[in-house]
Amino acid sequence: MIRLFVNVDHVATIREARKTIEPSPLKAALLAERAGAQGITIHLREDRRHIQDDDVRIIRDGINTPLNLEMAPTPEMLKLALEIKPYQVSLVPEKRQEITTEGGLDVCAHEKALIEIQEKIHERGILFSLFVDPDVHQVEASKRIKANSIEINTGKYTELKTPGEIEAELERIKKTAQRATEIGLKVFAGHGLNYQNVKDIAAIPEIEELNIGHFIVGQAIYGGMENAVTEMIRAIKTGRDRKVDPQLA
Ligand code: PXP
Repeated sequence: MIRLFVNVDHVATIREARKTIEPSPLKAALLAERAGAQGITIHLREDRRHIQDDDVRIIRDGINTPLNLEMAPTPEMLKLALEIKPYQVSLVPEKRQEITTEGGLDVCAHEKALIEIQEKIHERGILFSLFVDPDVHQVEASKRIKANSIEINTGKYTELKTPGEIEAELERIKKTAQRATEIGLKVFAGHGLNYQNVKDIAAIPEIEELNIGHFIVGQAIYGGMENAVTEMIRAIKTGRDRKVDPQLA
């Protein structure tokens, strides 16, 4: 079964709309865990628009599952990560004006700088993951800089409209996942996933972990966090079970 890491950033987005103390991302994370999430993800953005530095410490100490900290590869973020020591750091590119992450990290273009970060993260005993677009060159560069895993950016796949385009992007994701596994990287995926589009991603056998946030927090408004997570786990399982060709089973 694929592990679901629930991203609780947008619980903090609502809190920050009023700069108050409610709702609590930790409380949401604990409810997600109760419904079966195997990990919690948070993204500490440079402008601190949702998750704050204290949230990272409070969530790390308060949850019962591993904490995946997404962050930009900057000296400021590295210092914080080394101090807070989450289970895993995922490096994500960040542009000031973007609403959400717009693409994967260009590992090929920044190998030297990323190796230095990798060494410090590993020295501290933290797992090191890279968020990349579905592109085998990025995967091979990730291996060269000794990442433990890659997270394939599913953002483009979730935005495409025509079946032909979606199929072609899914094919790119599958090839990227296969290449990563061949060269010894663990494969995760995420961005823009919902109950429908997650199924074809969950059907890719190489993918071990999914990071899902916006949709789950949105659904939680209607039916509560636990129901939203339960429903997402059900959709993931439906997708994964599909990978077995019924002709061969
Ligand atoms: N993975 C990465 C690297 C992200 O930056 C995000 C968004 O913070 C996600 C996964 C989750 O995406 P979404 O909120 O669209 O589910």
